[in-house]
Amino acid sequence: MLNYKTVSPQYLERAVDQFANNYYSELSATHYVATAAANAPFDELKKCALFQLADEQRHLEMDREVFERAGIPERDWLAAWEAPGTTCRFFRHLLELEDTIEILVKGNFVAEGAAGPGTFTVLADGAEARGDVLSAVNHRARIRDETRHISYGRVLVKALIDDDPGNLDTIQEWQDESLRLFAEVARGGERRAWWDGFLASYYKIALPLGLRPSF
Ligand SMILES: [Fe+2]
Ligand SMILES: [Fe+2]
Repeated sequence: MLNYKTVSPQYLERAVDQFANNYYSELSATHYVATAAANAPFDELKKCALFQLADEQRHLEMDREVFERAGIPERDWLAAWEAPGTTCRFFRHLLELEDTIEILVKGNFVAEGAAGPGTFTVLADGAEARGDVLSAVNHRARIRDETRHISYGRVLVKALIDDDPGNLDTIQEWQDESLRLFAEVARGGERRAWWDGFLASYYKIALPLGLRPSF
């Protein structure tokens, strides 16, 4: 069941870019969250980032196992990630940042807020329907941690706006920039359900705080 004996060869071929999206976004997260922890302006925020680092490390290992059990040779992984239509552009951008607040707003509030419970549920159900039980289990495990990562991102954004309403403009810019980098994933309509769910779950947390839709 967990060794990809029951999925079709076509499924595996098409699933490789999804595996890359999962694995490399988690790998990126371990790096940018470590930077966020190292540069954190106060201790509570450092603590949140360090707890998240442990979670992301675990996700990374789960997704590595998917690649391995699916028998995809490691030399093909990076090419799948760098191919058009993945979330690579966004995560490479995050890896260039040094400012803790900017990293956490873009990574936790925007990206995880968007990719949160809704999208991972779509991914889990889709994988399960095609016999990919391992991916389904992984996505459901991920959902439990994402909620925690999103929560402190959200508290951070709310505190920034309460502290100075002028911060809203900066956060809007960070949102626009992030979603533009993500928009590539929606191209071609193949991931339409994913993209619609992605924007909807993000706007559900962002609009009540005074942010506007990016598109
Ligand atoms: Fe994660
Ligand atoms: Fe996360």
